[in-house]
Amino acid sequence: MLNIQSYVSLKPYNTFGIDAIARYWVTISHENDLYTLLHLTEFIETTKLIIGGGSNILLCQNFDGLVIKMNIQGIDLIREDDSHVYIKAGAGVNWHELVQFCVHNGYAGMENLSLIPGTVGAAPMQNIGAYGVELEQVFESLTAVHIASGEKRTFTHADCAFGYRESVFKRELKGQYVITDVTFQLDKHPTFHTRYGAIQETLTEMGVSESNLSIKAISEAVIRIRQSKLPDPAQIGNAGSFFKNPEISKVQFEALQTQYPALPGYPIGDDVVKVPAGWLIEQAGWKGYRSGGAGVHAKQSLVLVNYGNATGDEILHLAKQVQDSVKDKFGVVISPEVNVI
Ligand code: EPU
Repeated sequence: MLNIQSYVSLKPYNTFGIDAIARYWVTISHENDLYTLLHLTEFIETTKLIIGGGSNILLCQNFDGLVIKMNIQGIDLIREDDSHVYIKAGAGVNWHELVQFCVHNGYAGMENLSLIPGTVGAAPMQNIGAYGVELEQVFESLTAVHIASGEKRTFTHADCAFGYRESVFKRELKGQYVITDVTFQLDKHPTFHTRYGAIQETLTEMGVSESNLSIKAISEAVIRIRQSKLPDPAQIGNAGSFFKNPEISKVQFEALQTQYPALPGYPIGDDVVKVPAGWLIEQAGWKGYRSGGAGVHAKQSLVLVNYGNATGDEILHLAKQVQDSVKDKFGVVISPEVNVI
């Protein structure tokens, strides 16, 4: 049953906790309701915004259209062979709930992606990633519905054109499809990814060594690290990393490194180096900065926070100041990872 509501506050539905109003609002819990909705003549022309957990959006104004909150549930094992299991999850499934389901059942591959806020349907949009693993490494396919025609389509890995925090759904097909479910390929025999950042150190602190290493232990280590650095949106509004880590030329990187020898960098291919925006922002003096309700998180400068009553515009203004100062100091352009609406 479709229940289309008017003038709904979006404050509980975005992790930044911004108080913007949706002209129309509907929750979709079944695929059939989506088809019904997309065929309603009175909404065909209406601008639509699809949201999952609202953990990657910054609302800078009221939304004068229809917000569609995807809430399709269900986690099912649909196929398995000697080495893999294939798990299909509804777009509205909470991401971490899916990770826990997999870890609990011994299905390996997602454990490094523990505790990322958001939903399954939003995860492929920006190819979520953390601690050395990206969604695309466990992705098999997804189902999406074309908003204009109501037609259903399966997207393979290649169709999604994944990149660093990128996919076809953020580029060529932006705003055109609603993802309804995603199928993941998990390993029965784990390959452990423990080399990123503090994972190994945290495992050692937990008393885990090579002999008792497990996907459960990695998941717990990642949860510990995230909880120690990243603000809990239930306590302080935020959308995780506000910016992407910029990729610069090797020549520019080497020039910067002569000036700033501590500048970290991760080579991508022969001529490109990815540098942590958090480092640049911290060096530009923003770590822990606060102006009114908007701020830069004190433990991770890549995260902008809403201390309570900030508007989307205040956060955006701070983001622009940060971008300008990083550009002035280092000559590097950092761009938002968060979807500004
Ligand atoms: N750093 C600083 N100062 C800071 C933040 C980071 O100097 O304030 C330095 C760290 O010391 C380290 C480097 O930057 O040398 C990398 O830091 P970290 O491992 O915390 O990762 P990140 O590059 O800042 C990325 C993702 C995060 C993800 C972590 C861990 C992006 C945009 N962000 O952050 O993703 O959790 O790696 O894999 O790629 C998210 O997307 O919302 C998110 C939180």
